[in-house]
Amino acid sequence: MDVAIRRSFLIPSNEIYGSSAGFYDYGAVGTAIKHKIQNLWRSEMLQKEGFHEIETSVIVPEAVLKASGHAENFADPLVTCSGCKQKFRADHLIEENKDAKKEGVKASGLPPAELSALIKKYSVLCPQCKKPTLSEVGWFNMMFRTNIGPIDGNTAYFRPETAQGIFLDFARVIRNYGSKLPIGIGQVGRSARNEISPRQGLIRMREFTQMELEYFFNPVDQTYPRFKKIAHHKARFVEGAVPPHEVSYGEAVSTGLVPNEIMAYFLYKQWELYLAVGIPASKMYFRKMPKNDTPHYSKGNVDLEVETSYGSVETTGTAYRTDYDLSQHAKHSGQDLSVFDEATKQKIVAHVVEPSMGVDRLFWCVLEHCFRDKTPERDWEWFAFPPCIAPYHAWIFPLMKKDGMDGKAREIEEALREAGLTVYYQESGSIGRRYARADEIGVPYCITIDYDTLDTKSDKHGTVTVRFRNDAKQVRIKVSELAEKLAHFVKEGKVTE
Ligand code: GAP
Repeated sequence: MDVAIRRSFLIPSNEIYGSSAGFYDYGAVGTAIKHKIQNLWRSEMLQKEGFHEIETSVIVPEAVLKASGHAENFADPLVTCSGCKQKFRADHLIEENKDAKKEGVKASGLPPAELSALIKKYSVLCPQCKKPTLSEVGWFNMMFRTNIGPIDGNTAYFRPETAQGIFLDFARVIRNYGSKLPIGIGQVGRSARNEISPRQGLIRMREFTQMELEYFFNPVDQTYPRFKKIAHHKARFVEGAVPPHEVSYGEAVSTGLVPNEIMAYFLYKQWELYLAVGIPASKMYFRKMPKNDTPHYSKGNVDLEVETSYGSVETTGTAYRTDYDLSQHAKHSGQDLSVFDEATKQKIVAHVVEPSMGVDRLFWCVLEHCFRDKTPERDWEWFAFPPCIAPYHAWIFPLMKKDGMDGKAREIEEALREAGLTVYYQESGSIGRRYARADEIGVPYCITIDYDTLDTKSDKHGTVTVRFRNDAKQVRIKVSELAEKLAHFVKEGKVTE
């Protein structure tokens, strides 16, 4: 986190007023990476599948969240200390207790009465006062509440997930596309949850970004057209106490580990996306969620977890939400949200499989797994981001700020920007120091304009030096071919000579 803040990946929100826990801004470098991750998701999960993207309001009237169940059920277990009056997440305190940890107690998802019993059983103390002063466990609704307009009683909330907006707009979107199932509708946007104890940086935030896809289909056909092509591919799965082991997506469906081809296909897409952004396969796995951690209407939830210095972190949850949300909204709004299905000649309420990815948690995992420590050969810490998500594709340096080298560097900078590459011009400091600064934020290529570039008598005239981040090797490339070659390197993920 220290490196992330120093190098403009992240900035604690409202910092100059003393920041509140659970809120982070993205600095210029962080924003560039985050947008590239979001655009990769758009390309892989929406554009390549022929799905649609919409954008819905973040402020949602109470009626919507009563229908979805959030107004009543979207709560975390809370305990209050009678001494210091501080409030804590009951399940977290239990899981952090030494004895409970030794016995492998899993408190998440348990009802308040069972959590209160565990607090007594393990004599869990208030973390501030170190005394047995914790209250009985109760519920705390995690939604941020507000009022629409000046008239009291017009209660609304900051949405706790982007998904609900998609269910509300479903009928209009499907009508625009011939009212035909299946259809995929996605959204990238902010959600907010008033977490009791936000912690671990980007892992538990109060405001964060989700990338959610709702895939609507007729439940009589749970196949997916492109599944056969990928059924033999493998990923790592965890089920119950069975540690991560390789399973093909085909096997996952046939053994019931995953409820259908649709979900298995989206798991495959997530796995490939995570590999593309730099998470090693050995550091992630899918976990089939146990019944007590799955909503009653769900026909199966599978999380994608990544190993981090904070432990394993759920970064994407995929749920078979059935027809629950559309049925609830139809009932509460009085609107018909069913679709006439051509294949079965019946009106049905579509079922939904939902892959829901948190950008911030994934961003954090990318930072951790791409971080490289100092070595005897390289006296600075650096990031090995894949070029497709690096904050800049290249940095451009004139060897010196004189004799026309700076002018030529500026010319090249403009040409590369015109070609759609993200580049940045740097002229201060020695070349070695500039390489180090580029490495420190994970820029994959550095371009140097030197005397040879401009010297018409040199056999290197009209070429520049391109240095590769990962092995510091250098090649000369013709200026006239630079944009095309760099774009090719980015596409191929080339980071060494
Ligand atoms: N629509 C389903 C849904 O919202 P979720 O498992 O609650 O499911 C999905 O959230 C993803 O959103 C998580 O896997 C995580 O990446 C991200 N997320 C949820 N709560 C978060 C928080 N407090 N801070 C950061 N990311 C969070």
